[in-house]
Amino acid sequence: MRFALWTIGFVFLEVGPIQADSPDQAMTRLVSYASGSSDPSAAHTFDTSLFRVANSDFPIGVFDSGIGGLTVLEAILSVDSFNNETLEPKADGKPDFEKERFIYLGDQANMPYGNYPARGKEGFLRELVVKDAIFLLGKRFWESDKARAPSLAKSPVKAIVIACNTATAYGLEDIRAALKTWQVSVPVIGVVEAGARGVSETIATKDGRRSVGVLATVGTCSSMAYPKAIAASTGLAGKRVPEVVQQGSVHLANAIESSSSNIHECIRGDIRQLVETHKQSGSQSALDTIVLGCTHFPLVQDEIRNELNDLRTFEENGSRPYENLIASQIEFVNPAVLTAKELFRELARHRLRKADRMEKLPQADQFYISVPDGSNTELPLNPDGTLTTEYKYTRLPGLLHIEDTRFVPMTKQLLPAASLNLIQQRLPEVWKRLAQQPD
Ligand code: DGL
Repeated sequence: MRFALWTIGFVFLEVGPIQADSPDQAMTRLVSYASGSSDPSAAHTFDTSLFRVANSDFPIGVFDSGIGGLTVLEAILSVDSFNNETLEPKADGKPDFEKERFIYLGDQANMPYGNYPARGKEGFLRELVVKDAIFLLGKRFWESDKARAPSLAKSPVKAIVIACNTATAYGLEDIRAALKTWQVSVPVIGVVEAGARGVSETIATKDGRRSVGVLATVGTCSSMAYPKAIAASTGLAGKRVPEVVQQGSVHLANAIESSSSNIHECIRGDIRQLVETHKQSGSQSALDTIVLGCTHFPLVQDEIRNELNDLRTFEENGSRPYENLIASQIEFVNPAVLTAKELFRELARHRLRKADRMEKLPQADQFYISVPDGSNTELPLNPDGTLTTEYKYTRLPGLLHIEDTRFVPMTKQLLPAASLNLIQQRLPEVWKRLAQQPD
């Protein structure tokens, strides 16, 4: 069914399940819908006039499909690579973003993002990613999954960090193009280029030979974002382009998100497959660099390292079949710190770093997460309250009037105890701030 909607501004908007439209057409519709509403509480819209004047007092928005992006936020909160006064690239003993405030969003209800492209849902994924950005730019959120009306008390953001490789691979260009259409000057930083630059930085000499393994989601791998970005980054630095082998993980991000007991099984399967693919490629050099190409994976970096070590020393019929394929010293590339540095440079370039205004009480950082709409009893849910896989991956883009998931404050009750443990142990700066969230 198709139907049309007139708004007060006489903007003609078409909404409805328009299967025949291409992902690009659906995107165009979302972009004009987002800025064309006269109803401030309408879903997937925001007020572009809030950005007429650049506002360095706004917080910085960071988003991922779940808790993985918190690994990027941790790096942003901890990094000290610049002098905060002179902006020189030199540590000054103070965190680079010490005066900034952050709004974090994890679109957990719709994850894993990495599995949409393989199901032919690339257009839907692109739409989810742009909707995440719209949420960060706007003031609208829901107090709870069953609230009767949305609240309009959230602060807009002055910069957006896409702390998700899959969202960067499929949505970075869409968000930048949308901002241009909206005439909103907000810098957007993704993680993939930072990861590629990280690889280039590990190559010490111009002709140094490296074999790089990229562990990412299936979607990130099929986009070829990393092989392309690594070739561009090393090429630009005048270095030999390394061999790149990719492994797309179907289950690991979700297993980490839900703290499932099969995390180790997932890691083992993915590492074995990565090394097998490397073997089949006929490469003569051992894998010596691993890109953590999904922001969830730094949470299990130790386990990934152990699995690589176990496989390297694995014995079968008196020989070690993988010894020559895995280097004894593996270099891990986590794009997070380089992303944080790029954020600093972009804020400085746009004159958006927060001015020191001690008379103003700093507002706390805020964390949001998506949950299924609790007021809709028709939604197909699993026993644990999550959307069924069948429902999640058969939705169509272009349904702008539907809001089947809601962005609500991320209370500790909304995360599994094991995830909270993981955050507490591995992401101390994030934990400090998350622990202050009201229950
Ligand atoms: N954390 C996301 C990334 O970096 C992926 C998780 C997902 O598949 O949703 O790609």
